[in-house]
Amino acid sequence: MEQTRRRALVTGASGGIGAACARALSKDCDVIVHYGHNREAAEKVLASLEPGDHQIIGFDIADEESVADAIKALEAAGGIDILVNNAGITNDKLLMRLKDEDFARVIDVNLSGAARCIRGCTRGMMKRRFGRIINISSIVGLRGNAGQAAYAASKAGLIGLTKSAALELGGRGITANAVAPGFIETEMTAGLPEKVKTEMLSRISSGRFGEPEDVASVVAFLASDAAGYVSGQVIAVDGGMQ
Ligand SMILES: NC(=O)c1ccc[n+]([C@@H]2O[C@H](COP(=O)([O-])OP(=O)(O)OC[C@H]3O[C@@H](n4cnc5c(N)ncnc54)[C@H](OP(=O)(O)O)[C@@H]3O)[C@@H](O)[C@H]2O)c1
Repeated sequence: MEQTRRRALVTGASGGIGAACARALSKDCDVIVHYGHNREAAEKVLASLEPGDHQIIGFDIADEESVADAIKALEAAGGIDILVNNAGITNDKLLMRLKDEDFARVIDVNLSGAARCIRGCTRGMMKRRFGRIINISSIVGLRGNAGQAAYAASKAGLIGLTKSAALELGGRGITANAVAPGFIETEMTAGLPEKVKTEMLSRISSGRFGEPEDVASVVAFLASDAAGYVSGQVIAVDGGMQ
């Protein structure tokens, strides 16, 4: 029997990894391409998708009301079967210089933003007894990183959020997993000093930096029916980083 096309919301799809996820998912799903500020980039991503009933939507992931309103409208227009919580920011500072407001902002976008989206989507997923929640964490959330305490805490928090969601929602046909990318070539990593990049490359056994598509193919698998018995996991996509 032919499966009706599922609908997937990818947050931060105007950026590197989110755009690749949107493209990979568009082969089998209708995709909602989310952006924060960069509508132009989101429109380009929309135009690059496989044929389907795709759309773009913009909202600030840090604004509780905007998230709730946007997701409510998407639920009313057909629901969200697959949620990829990918939007994220960094604010790299040594701990001794990290102010409360710096810390709070990173947590608000990266961690609370994902929790807000999950909250908005789960009722519909529970009703339909199908859901895929995929949170883009980071290997930094598993290992920590000097100068990235706020980011690492937010990404470690996403792992706890993922595991709790998997336990709460597993009985309703909903899986929740985290993907932990290593060093992926996007805007986020473009500005790092060459010295840092060279040092990182020396620790990657694959001998190359990751591309957004390396992450997207794992996300597409976790979103698929084939991954229905995979939940509460953290899957590193880091090229074998030591
Ligand atoms: N690149 C890496 O090496 C790497 C490694 C591990 C994990 N990750 C994670 O992967 C995810 C994507 O990273 P990327 O490298 O693709 O970064 P990116 O190119 O900088 O994209 C970040 C995305 O997040 C969105 N965003 C940021 N703040 C937002 C807000 N307040 N409201 C709504 N959207 C917001 C941006 O939207 P606008 O630009 O439209 O505002 C953009 O689409 C992030 O969660 C990141 O932490 C990346």
